[in-house]
Amino acid sequence: MRWLIGMLGLLAVMMTVVVATSLAHALHPPSNVEVIDPLRLHLEGEFVESNLGAARESDGSVTVRLLAQQYSFVPRCVTVPADTPVKFRLTSADVLHGFLLVDTNVNTMVVPGFVAEVRTRFARSGDHAMPCHEFCGLGHAGMWAQVVVVPKDQFPDSSPTQRLRCAAH
Ligand code: CUA
Repeated sequence: MRWLIGMLGLLAVMMTVVVATSLAHALHPPSNVEVIDPLRLHLEGEFVESNLGAARESDGSVTVRLLAQQYSFVPRCVTVPADTPVKFRLTSADVLHGFLLVDTNVNTMVVPGFVAEVRTRFARSGDHAMPCHEFCGLGHAGMWAQVVVVPKDQFPDSSPTQRLRCAAH
């Protein structure tokens, strides 16, 4: 009888942990602090099509804006400079997606209704595949993009109003 009470006690503790962590996550999705209306993304604001891509800021850093939607990232490819502060800002137009850059520690969820922001700095040039890593539907496996890191002096010295994209290869 004692083992049964022990098992039930253990089960109760495990259930409490599961419920508590899921509640905590629901209230505070990691690294998603800014709210945004997913139904108006295409119409106005930071994530309209013409504003997506990489932008050189006046302080020399780079901001990359990407839209995640079933089943693609827009744009499909972005170029960023090495050895430069890079800030990624993403949001979702529909369901939960994942943002991950292979061979880096960049990895976060893209939750509809929130802006996901990740700051990083690439030590050297090279290509990073960017697969969606949250199951988002039948086309999930084909949802990916690419980040191309180029040497600092090869990144266009564009104005802050320009948006840079590249062709995925
Ligand atoms: Cu988007 Cu999986």
